[in-house]
Amino acid sequence: MPSVITQPVAARLTHAAIFLVVTLKPNTQCNEPVRALCGDLASLLRAIGFRNPDRRLSCVMGVGSVAWDRLFGRPRPADLHPFREIKGEHHAVSTPGDILFHIRATHMDLCFELATQIMSRIGDVVTTVDEVHGFKYFDERDLLGFVDGTENPVDQDALDATIIGDEDPTFAGGSYVIVQKYLHDLKAWNAVPVEQQEGIIGRKKLSDIELDDAAKPAYAHNVLTTIEESGEQLEIVRDNMPFGEVGKGEFGTFFIGYARSPARIEQMLVNMFVGRPPGNYDRLLDFSKAVTGTLFFVPSATFLANVPAAPSPDSSPVAEGETAGVPESYRPSSDGSLGIGSLKGESANE
Ligand code: HEM
Repeated sequence: MPSVITQPVAARLTHAAIFLVVTLKPNTQCNEPVRALCGDLASLLRAIGFRNPDRRLSCVMGVGSVAWDRLFGRPRPADLHPFREIKGEHHAVSTPGDILFHIRATHMDLCFELATQIMSRIGDVVTTVDEVHGFKYFDERDLLGFVDGTENPVDQDALDATIIGDEDPTFAGGSYVIVQKYLHDLKAWNAVPVEQQEGIIGRKKLSDIELDDAAKPAYAHNVLTTIEESGEQLEIVRDNMPFGEVGKGEFGTFFIGYARSPARIEQMLVNMFVGRPPGNYDRLLDFSKAVTGTLFFVPSATFLANVPAAPSPDSSPVAEGETAGVPESYRPSSDGSLGIGSLKGESANE
């Protein structure tokens, strides 16, 4: 039984990224180039990444709820659903997206080349609904001037936070990702005294030191995004990136959060947008507007590598309990095991 290799969701943060969100064109013939790309992605990445391995090119491919049914049928990842909008003190919108490519490297040239190669394969059968070129600002700061990413879990903790295990054995080795594009009103933000900004984030601006609990307002961003279950903190892995177009006066943060269950990211969003308790919402949102919101499942690299280019004729419709659309070599053996012995710490194309 082959081991399951994860996609590099917990790859080290980099200084350049491209976030590409596309929708599939309606014709079902459009599925084939995308399915073919699933199988080819790893070799494409090897070819481009090897030209400069020190620049750590990686790519994570995610698939939206509707596209999953179209491309792979059943079974479905247990928690995959379209992003649910949240209407509270502020509005978290839900926007279209069938496939996400999260491309990272230390330099933009590699990201740009991989995005170009991907689109040369599927550009005719998809519509690009969002493309953001992100960069890291001075000492890992966002455009609000705060260091972003400090409390991210690392190493084994990052894998434990993001990679699905026994809770969904058919899709063990996968993950979930939510993306949201935020636009900042920097003029209004920069008019806020630094001490007040620090209360909104929950950390010191210059030193990045966390405020004492007693000094943190109940609405601080790092209070509302800290959630627990049975006394255990539920973590996610974030790789936010600043982006913008100075001439247009556009300044933003592209939020991307990975987790082994979307529920924990959704809980954080409810705390931010509705408030915990309701009304005690995240003041960051008075200066940052979410203009997109999409949820994707991130299948394991093993799953992607084994997607046949052409589906078998009997792959649709699918009866409950059947496994059409899931590559033969990926299906659990009769004892239900996936042979994920090498799951921990192993990740494709890092
Ligand atoms: C405009 C968008 C956002 C900005 C500018 C932003 C910025 C920040 C900053 C500066 C920190 C403190 C440093 C750190 O630990 O990284 C932070 C922490 C954090 N953020 Fe955000 N964030 C944004 C959106 C979100 C969203 C949408 C979520 C989750 C749904 C989220 C979840 C978290 C979490 C879990 C932490 C760590 C809390 C802790 O354990 O201390 N953030 N964010």
